[in-house]
Amino acid sequence: MAEISLKNLTVDFAGFKAVDDVSLTVKDGEFVVYLGPSGCGKTTTLRCIAGLVNATSGDVLFDGKRVNELSASERNIAMVFQFVSLYPHLKIRENIVFPLKARGVPRAEIARKLDWVTDVFKLGDELDRYPSALPPGARQKVALARAVIRDPAVLLLDEPLSAIDEQFREEMRWELGHLQRQLGVTTIYVTHDQREAMSLADRIVLMNNSRIVQISEPDRIFFDPVDIFAGQFIGSPSMNLIDLVPVSGGLRLGDSDVTLTVDHHDLPEWALSSRKPLKLGVRPLNVHLVDGPQGGGSIPVDDVFSVGRERFFTFTVGDNVYQGVDKRTNRSGTEGRVSFDPAGLLFFDAATGRRVDGGAAE
Ligand SMILES: Nc1ncnc2c1ncn2[C@@H]1O[C@H](COP(=O)(O)OP(=O)(O)O)[C@@H](O)[C@H]1O
Ligand SMILES: [Mg+2]
Repeated sequence: MAEISLKNLTVDFAGFKAVDDVSLTVKDGEFVVYLGPSGCGKTTTLRCIAGLVNATSGDVLFDGKRVNELSASERNIAMVFQFVSLYPHLKIRENIVFPLKARGVPRAEIARKLDWVTDVFKLGDELDRYPSALPPGARQKVALARAVIRDPAVLLLDEPLSAIDEQFREEMRWELGHLQRQLGVTTIYVTHDQREAMSLADRIVLMNNSRIVQISEPDRIFFDPVDIFAGQFIGSPSMNLIDLVPVSGGLRLGDSDVTLTVDHHDLPEWALSSRKPLKLGVRPLNVHLVDGPQGGGSIPVDDVFSVGRERFFTFTVGDNVYQGVDKRTNRSGTEGRVSFDPAGLLFFDAATGRRVDGGAAE
């Protein structure tokens, strides 16, 4: 096991920076998830840690020691990809112990370690079967067992669940999180799926355009995004983003006739005197339905539909349609207006996208 550090890591492919000045420390035993849209540099970062891609500048450190010059096989890492390749002509048990046999590990130790991973991964019934007899989820579990059987310093997982059917993916995700905690192995997991990141990570490293946007615990990144990109990439349905127009005594929501004011505790005092054009971010779960008729100074609700106890609805400001989710129960009667939870309002600089109301941005 190891602590992994990246110091100003840059990977340049013929003038294109796939990784641009990335710094991060992953603690011993930690489960870190690299999250970001396709092409943002996640796989390249992982391959750099593995020793499969050279850093153009910057350092990769394992337990404080620079490993840039070490080959992949000298780094004691294990990597699992989206598409698993097991040896089709070998039984599961032979597949799992393959890395140990290849290293000439004594038989007794191989047997002991096989018992251990079989127990952890609950693969007892599969050992004498062939890969083709297993569903994809179970095959991915075998790949993980094979990866950890030689006690790697770090486990690197690149979208390991994305080729698995939706119904098994959820189960595998849960199991994977459980296993990692049991094994205590430092793990870096790459995904473009924010739900996967939110449910697995001790900390999320959010990337965009080859750079780190935010490093935070899942809850924090959800409630306290550093910028509009972070706010909108995380959360489903997505965070609403509404233009704020300065008017006397407050900030008007886009082209509506609704104004946020300090009196109603929904507008921080500083925002009144802000010289910058601002945008308001508000998550659907912080938009509530309010009974009563539609009238002046209120945002009307367009459509409402219920799924179980949740009520999803849309509302319009100017030409834009936004979403809300109301989880409060026992509401009935006419639902005509929306209201925002003051604690859930996020303010962004319209020009730079950065948070300007404190929180993570400070
Ligand atoms: N060997 C390479 N040569 C040139 N460009 C590359 C190479 N590998 C990756 N890239 C580019 O670097 C960018 C980041 O790729 P990647 O790290 O695979 O992103 P992600 O895993 O986040 O989808 C992409 O634009 C990709 O086309
Ligand atoms: Mg990738």
